[in-house]
Amino acid sequence: MPYYTKLGQLPRKRHVQFRRPDGALYSEEVFGTEGFVGPTSTIYHIHPPTQVAGWKTLYSTKPEYVETETMRMRHLASAAMPPKGDPITGRVVVMGNADVEMSICVPSDPMDYHYKNGQGDECLFVHYGSGTLHSQFGTLAFGPKDYIMIPKGIIYRMIFDETPEGDPNPKFIVFETANGSHILPPPRYLSKKTSQFLEHSPYCERDLRLPELPLTFDEKGSFEVRIKARDCVHSYDYSYHPLDVVGWDGCYYPYCFNVDDFAPITGKLHQPPPVHQTFEGHNFVICSFCPRMLDWHDGAIPVPYNHSNLDSDEVLYYVEGNYKARKGIEIESISVHPQGIPHGPHPGTIEKAIGATFTDELAVMCDTFRPLFMTAAALDLDDPKYPASWEEDTFPTPGGTHAPDGSPLNKKGKGKGTTVSNGDIPKQAGKKVRHPNAVDTWE
Ligand SMILES: [Fe+2]
Repeated sequence: MPYYTKLGQLPRKRHVQFRRPDGALYSEEVFGTEGFVGPTSTIYHIHPPTQVAGWKTLYSTKPEYVETETMRMRHLASAAMPPKGDPITGRVVVMGNADVEMSICVPSDPMDYHYKNGQGDECLFVHYGSGTLHSQFGTLAFGPKDYIMIPKGIIYRMIFDETPEGDPNPKFIVFETANGSHILPPPRYLSKKTSQFLEHSPYCERDLRLPELPLTFDEKGSFEVRIKARDCVHSYDYSYHPLDVVGWDGCYYPYCFNVDDFAPITGKLHQPPPVHQTFEGHNFVICSFCPRMLDWHDGAIPVPYNHSNLDSDEVLYYVEGNYKARKGIEIESISVHPQGIPHGPHPGTIEKAIGATFTDELAVMCDTFRPLFMTAAALDLDDPKYPASWEEDTFPTPGGTHAPDGSPLNKKGKGKGTTVSNGDIPKQAGKKVRHPNAVDTWE
């Protein structure tokens, strides 16, 4: 993260003697990025972090992409994914490229080891389930709709609470950098002088949940840390608990951000996806489409225009909302709209949306600046009918459902003088009426 914080015990100066109660020195470790000129933290271990034994390669994590020469829209129905593995081994990569990989995890087993991703930052979005993430930097309690940001190199263990009867199985999606870049807030949200979130940012420091105590686990024994590096997971043995940090300070640490704390920016006319941007890595962005008021111009069309985002592949994961207007899309669906072909509202949805004042959609988007490739696991979830789902008449009612002056047609096909807005909601003298049936938009 770009701003400074600290937790636990620290010596007054960097790189000076700092002693344990038994008189031995704590082991200082500088956790530096980008050749020690990027975000850095300094952490103090009970044991030298270099003391490891027994290393072996367990399995490959390199995604195998298929249909790499096929360019088409896709819909992956991820609700069908069965639970498997633990919060690490259960991750199923569905798509990716040289910059970022997206995986889905529906874990069935607990993690009985610690894990470090030594090759990329991780951005987890928790759809279902709650629990605790124990890390070298402290403890994060997490729950539904939390982004959990875990920068490269941090040892952690993710423990889900028991699922109450009737609740869905825990599920989260993962965006992981494959190009070594770090996932951070967009620079335009931050002050160049202080790194403080600026007034126009849709979230700020108060919205971020930082690691808390407990921090230190002073235990001897045999502890496995699995380390992802070189597209393989390796198993290392530690003779002490790997979360043996007594204190740290700096600008590099894991944190949570709940998407309900994102304050959407709205406009008189349609606002483009960058206003929803939440994070970015090199060559990709992550956006949050949250419930919000819609465009208030008298003639506004609240759903987006057809668009060619010429330099991006667009991926949306649908979290909450009413997606009936989108052919086949449901909660937990993933849509993929590649660069090379435009996309936009489904037939009938433009006229239907006119007059709507609110959307209750919640979706997470990842736009990549290079094409995304599917894995075989994605093809298992693929809905082959989706690319043709725009084939019906876009305007099924001849002449549309509105008169040329923009007023909705009544049952006799008359426009002017009608007293209803979209959905037959009567207008109150001079006041705008909030539409009770929120419409979903389409980015
Ligand atoms: Fe789009």
